[in-house]
Amino acid sequence: ALPVIIDTDPGQDDAFAILLALAVPELDVLGLTTVAGNMGLEQTTDNARRIVELAGLPETPVHAGSARPLIRKPRPVPEIHGETGIDGWDWAEARFPPAKTHAVDFIIETILAHPQKVQMICLGPQTNLALAIRRAPEILQNMAGISFMGGGFFEGGNMTPAAEYNILVDPEAVRIVLSSAGEAGVPVTAVPLDCTHACAAPLGWSTTLRETGTEVMQACAGMMEFFEQYGNKKYGTKTRPLHDAVAIAATIWPDLFPGKLCPVDVECAGELTTGMTVVDWLRQTGRPDNCLWLNGCHDAAEVYARMAAALATLPGNV
Ligand code: BDR
Ligand code: CA
Repeated sequence: ALPVIIDTDPGQDDAFAILLALAVPELDVLGLTTVAGNMGLEQTTDNARRIVELAGLPETPVHAGSARPLIRKPRPVPEIHGETGIDGWDWAEARFPPAKTHAVDFIIETILAHPQKVQMICLGPQTNLALAIRRAPEILQNMAGISFMGGGFFEGGNMTPAAEYNILVDPEAVRIVLSSAGEAGVPVTAVPLDCTHACAAPLGWSTTLRETGTEVMQACAGMMEFFEQYGNKKYGTKTRPLHDAVAIAATIWPDLFPGKLCPVDVECAGELTTGMTVVDWLRQTGRPDNCLWLNGCHDAAEVYARMAAALATLPGNV
């Protein structure tokens, strides 16, 4: 199995991503690291603990990380994810505390010590990974790759016309990650809105989940329904893409996702475009390719069918 560290700011779609990663044999989840994003750090950390416990895998360590972006202010979005960030289910209190080590130290120590190369999967603002790279650039030598949910080029942004949430919150962190990984030759895969918007859940998917009956599936159904309400308000759609879960799906089932290797950078100082991912799709800049940019999904129904089947195998909170 591919050893992974998941950096996250749950978020309903982060919750699905974490549960999917824990459920599949293709991934070995070494730990979760949390960051301020959808909610403040305390809440995202508490949410991550609740999620691994709901899954029935409480031994999965959760390490709290950065409470704010590198230089900008935090931007919590309770209007999207609800007051807890993972509204839609009546969550039990976390039984175990987060691990003592700071996320940045955990990322560095784990990657340096692991006998295999480790994949980083970032599902929120990339503050923790940027700090880890700055503190210990040698980690890049033992990384299998970096996948992140974030950005959008053909689809534009979801927070401003140009910027997607995860990038907008900490564009400087993304600049550090992309440039350092590029120089070190670490493969980077972006799972932007161009990909996730082509991978919305099938209509009525939450009913399918609920019919499975396990507690995990009831929680997933509730979160999905909550998440869809916002989609309905903002986009007028009856269903929604689970952005972060699509990033996990693209890691384990890459054949289902088309893309192209090209030069990608982030606008950090635009008048109208701060946080925009600038994708040189036609390779006009002459800069080196540094990112596999996923821009679609071949079979969204298949992705969600596999996801539901995987989620149903979790042991659950017994
Ligand atoms: C991203 O922003 C967050 O609100 C979601 O959890 C996801 O990571 C989608 O733009
Ligand atoms: Ca997220």
